[in-house]
Amino acid sequence: MIDSDIAIASDHGGFDLKNEIIKYLASINVKVFDFGAYDKNSCDYPIYAKKVANAILNGEFKRGILICGTGIGMQMAANRFKGIRAVCAQNCYCARMSRQHNDSNILTLGQRVLGVDNAIEILNVWLNTEFEGGRHQRRIEMLDD
Ligand code: RB5
Repeated sequence: MIDSDIAIASDHGGFDLKNEIIKYLASINVKVFDFGAYDKNSCDYPIYAKKVANAILNGEFKRGILICGTGIGMQMAANRFKGIRAVCAQNCYCARMSRQHNDSNILTLGQRVLGVDNAIEILNVWLNTEFEGGRHQRRIEMLDD
């Protein structure tokens, strides 16, 4: 199970799903800090990806969730930061493998791609799967060389 609070953010395209996920995390007693956006006005996803990426890189949080329309922009933006391993997981298998093999520290989700139940199922797999380490540790270190 997760061992720290979760940082979360979205743009306008992920705003509704973000609120559903915040409610869900509260219901399972996971503390979550919401870095915005705080309304549905059109905004720029890289700003929110940067907030969560920095919160992880400075040690405030171990893991984060970023939500936009597709999950793609958030993934691209977050992965610009050295030390961030963001996965846009559209199914449970990729969510699981991104944890076991890649030690993903940010999950990105697409509100226009996934239903709420499906997104929560993917989230649960991601939250509850541990990194396997071993040969995968060397490989993730190579990502930041
Ligand atoms: C906003 O319309 C949309 O482009 C954004 O939420 C995201 O899907 C970008 O990747």
